[in-house]
Order: sequence, then C-alpha cells, then structure tokens
Amino acid sequence: MSAEIRVALEPPYTVHVGRGRLALAGELARERPSVAVVTDGRVAALHGARLAALGDRPWIQVPRGEQAKTLAQVGVLLEELEAAGLDRRSLLVTFGGGSVSDLGGLAASLYMRGIDVLHCPTTLLAQVDAAVGGKTGVNLGPAKNLAGTFHQPIAVVADVDVLATLAEADWRSGLGEVVKSALLESPPSGAEPLLELLERSSEGLLRREAPVLEAVVERCVRHKAAVVAGDERESGARAGLNLGHTFAHALEAASGFALPHGVAVAVGLVLALECSRRVGLLEEPELAPRTVRLLSRLGLPSSLAALRTAEVPLEAAHIEAALRHDKKRAEGEPCFVLPRRRGAVALGVAVDPALVRSLLA
Ligand code: GLY
Repeated sequence: MSAEIRVALEPPYTVHVGRGRLALAGELARERPSVAVVTDGRVAALHGARLAALGDRPWIQVPRGEQAKTLAQVGVLLEELEAAGLDRRSLLVTFGGGSVSDLGGLAASLYMRGIDVLHCPTTLLAQVDAAVGGKTGVNLGPAKNLAGTFHQPIAVVADVDVLATLAEADWRSGLGEVVKSALLESPPSGAEPLLELLERSSEGLLRREAPVLEAVVERCVRHKAAVVAGDERESGARAGLNLGHTFAHALEAASGFALPHGVAVAVGLVLALECSRRVGLLEEPELAPRTVRLLSRLGLPSSLAALRTAEVPLEAAHIEAALRHDKKRAEGEPCFVLPRRRGAVALGVAVDPALVRSLLA
C-alpha cells in the first residue's frame, strides 16, 4: 500500500512512499532539459536499473557514507555539475543514503544560487529522516553538519524495495531514527501509535517485510512532515527532532565516525531519557525501560557500555570534548532536547556538566 504525504510548505511537495516507487523519478524529471544524478558506487551498482529512465543522463558518483560530507566534496560536485552543463532550470536527483542527500542537497542549493533537487533516498535513515525537510549539510572536521543550508526538494521518492539490500549496519542505523520518531510522535487520532506498531511488528520489521516497511516509513514521514511544516527553519518545534542527537553526534565524533549515525542515536535516546529523569523532567518514567526493550528487540545497543570496544573505546573525555562542538551549544556548553513524555520534549536544556559527565562514565 503506497502513500503520498504532503509536506505543507510554500511551495508544498509530496513524499511518495511504497513499493516500486522509483519509476516515478523518471516521470518527475521528464520535462527538465537537463538532469544529473548524484549517487554512490554501491547504490548505482545495486539499484541503478530502477532509475533506467534517467540512464542516459550524467551520473556523478561521490564517496560512500560520511566520506562524502566534506567541503572539499561540495567543491568537486559543483565542478561536476558545471561540467555536466546544468543550468538554472536543471534538476539534480540524489540517489543514495543520507550522506548523498545531505551533500547533493547542499550542492543544489549553491549551484547557480539554487537549482531544484529531487531526493530518492535508498536507506531507511534517509527515507524516514534525512531526505525529508530540506536540511542539507557537511561536516567540519569532527563537527557534524556544521555547514549547511535549508533547501527543500521538489519531491521525495521513498521506494521501500531498495531497503532489502541494505547492509546490516545501515539498516540498524535507520532503526535508531525510527525509534526516535516513535518517542516524538503524538499519534494521529484513531491510528495505532508508532511505538505500539513497532512493538507489535518488530519481527516483521526485522525481516524487512514490505507491508511493515511501508507502514513504518509512512508513519515516520507523516510525523516529520507535520513538524517541518510547522517550523521549517527550526526556530522551535523542529529542534525536537534532534532528540538523542546531541549525545549521538558526540559519540560519532568520539568514535572517529566509526559508529553509524542511527546506532549512536539509539544510545543517545537512552542517555537523553536518563538525563531527563535525573534533572526531573521525565513525566513518564516507564518510557525509559520501554525504549530499552524496543531497542533490544530491534538489535540496537541501549547503553554506552554496549558501544565501547577495544578499537572504539569512546572515552568520556573525548565525548565531552565533542559535545562542546555541537551546533546547539550555548556559550560553549551543549544544550539538550530532553523527553518529558511520549510526544513531548523540553528544548534547549542546559545540563550541569557534572551530571553529563556522570552519564558518560
Ligand atoms: N534531522 C532533523 C531535522 O531534519 O530537523
């Protein structure tokens, strides 16, 4: 069952979720005099045939994962767009995970002061989060997403069929963002809350059954679309989408980006819940063990200890140093999004550094 979710911005756009949806990308690009596709080698090899309608357009390959998210790569990509002859009426199609849509979206927003971009996300993480809402960005050294723009796509095509080939680490990474959405969601009236849906369907989800994937991606996108429509530039409620992310970005940086983003988010959610409990903001204490149980059922780590290995020791001092680089910092100290209860968070909470240190011990 496919879904079309409207992101009610000006101009509005649609997120198409379902099986076999990539065929739409060719239709959406048909009228354009020039189109380029930005992708990575793995996605091109595994799924290039699904974008056969764009097979005769220039395909630009960028490095996989976080390696793509550098200012140097933005420069390389912009030069390639120029070499491909793109002009103001051109369309850039991103075909890949969150790194590809973050980098491609940023290049699209800069090239000739902004050309249209169509996102075709191929990872769970990008389908439920990165490709929706218009955030673009690259990292500045260890600081995640510190250079970026807001540049909304003309549409998003989230074809759940491509999720079948996701590498295990990328798959699990997406599940972390899905659990985040379940904690943030205020369920639409009459619908089963996403948290219950995940608890009930965790086995089907782990088997990547298409109907479960469609339902889960749709629900996450509906939630994100509603938040973004109410606060495109993150002057308020959108900051709630960063639940668990202040910790997660610091964990990723402290790991030298060895940790997949959503895996770091999973532990970031647990740390945010515990932090919220300790500062007295958590009104629904059962949410913490419930989240831990769900993360375990989904094969995700639920504690800092579970992430630490000899190769990636994640020393507290390194995590603390990385927290100070977070872009949500105020006067050099990090600010946190802390959960109050399901569907409600406190934004911009400054937490006593000693408490933060104790959480990282
Ligand atoms: N990933 C958080 C946001 O799009 O605001």
